Amino acid sequence: MNNQLLLDHLRCIPDWPIKGVNFRDVTTLFKSPEALNEITNEMFKLYKDKEITKIVGIESRGFVMSSAVAVKLGAGIVLCRKPGKLPCETVQESYAKEYGIDTIEIHKDAISEKDTILLHDDLLATGGTMKAACNLVKKFHPKKIYCNFIIELSSEFPNSRKLFDKDVEITSLL
Ligand code: PRP
Ligand code: HPA
Repeated sequence: MNNQLLLDHLRCIPDWPIKGVNFRDVTTLFKSPEALNEITNEMFKLYKDKEITKIVGIESRGFVMSSAVAVKLGAGIVLCRKPGKLPCETVQESYAKEYGIDTIEIHKDAISEKDTILLHDDLLATGGTMKAACNLVKKFHPKKIYCNFIIELSSEFPNSRKLFDKDVEITSLL
């Protein structure tokens, strides 16, 4: 993979959204045709032999690559959303954030036991969001769960991977 191409297109915003956070802005990756193509091809290479039937994209930046890669893999897309956005009956999972509790949800009929799931988000920080998404997807008893991120902040959050069960395979591009 051409790491440098991606790093060259990644924008970091100091002290956003709050002081002390160095925000990795993936919108500059998404707007570059070359970087978008590189991420799509790399994710395709990682998962082409895994028989993925659905990609679960996490709101909101997780939706972008989920679509591109699902088309290449011949998989469907499931939206994992913040509460009150999905119109039909949902299954929910709540998790602790720095301030208070957050909830995510998926339509109740979105995943079956026959599915092999790739969960995707732009970035792994504390891991709270993806761990909750994994817990949520596990309620549907799919055959297997994979997790993927464009960016893993492993120096800043070295313990995030330890949150996940051993049977969940995790990859990140950067
Ligand atoms: C960001 C990011 C991940 C999550 C990572 O989303 O896109 O979903 O935080 O952090 P964690 O590993 O500590 O849980 P955000 O909550 O900003 O939502 P948004 O994509 O809707 O802006
Ligand atoms: N970028 C996007 N989402 C995030 C970040 C970041 O740097 N840190 C925590 N969530």
